Amino acid sequence: MNRSIPVAIQPTGGRPIAGGRVRFLGSFPGQVPTCGLPEIAFAGRSNVGKSSAINRLLGCKKAARVSATPGRTQAINLFAVGGRLAFVDLPGYGFARVPAEVQRGWKGLVEGYLAEREALALVVVLIDPRRDPQALDADLIWGLRQAGIPLLVLATKLDKIKRSRRAAALAALRRAYKLKPEEALGFSSHTGEGLERAWAIIDRHARGAGP
Ligand code: GTP
Ligand code: MG
Repeated sequence: MNRSIPVAIQPTGGRPIAGGRVRFLGSFPGQVPTCGLPEIAFAGRSNVGKSSAINRLLGCKKAARVSATPGRTQAINLFAVGGRLAFVDLPGYGFARVPAEVQRGWKGLVEGYLAEREALALVVVLIDPRRDPQALDADLIWGLRQAGIPLLVLATKLDKIKRSRRAAALAALRRAYKLKPEEALGFSSHTGEGLERAWAIIDRHARGAGP
């Protein structure tokens, strides 16, 4: 099951971001084994770009599977990053064409993971700022707050929004989900916008230093 993915370390301002090798630890349709590293989980609606964001952050095109078909990530995928933290690719929610029973199964899987994971250092919630505020996203954010789990919202696919409208889109998203300024960041997996700031926040949480 284990395969090691050599990662091309992307220089961002001369600083290596992935910081070493990425190791795929497995794909878990049920209980996720502990890996002994602080975990950064990626959550959000189906097709919002979770797997793409993971790949971009890791500077590796193929670590997590990306698909134009929503519902591609159906189990919890775990990646060890440079032996210092782990990325967790969660199945997306809210895809209407997935049967209700399957949706409930994923929901249980994701909620079980989020509720019980001691190693969870941060949940990165991806939201497409072009869409109207969604109850499922609001529920997730509310649940994380209730549980005291740190969160970072990435307003993703920012490349699809005109440059002149990005700041307003981000401000609207912060208002809609009642986010503090430092809890939301514009991001694009295609252009790399927001990459360094996202890494800075991820690193801080992985080191246990909080926001
Ligand atoms: P599930 O696994 O189904 O929950 O989806 P996901 O959230 O992992 O989305 P994925 O990364 O597979 O991306 C879905 C689609 O959005 C793909 O066609 C990506 O190429 C596209 N996409 C992801 N991120 C971006 C982005 O930043 N900009 C643009 N323009 N497209 C993106
Ligand atoms: Mg995915």
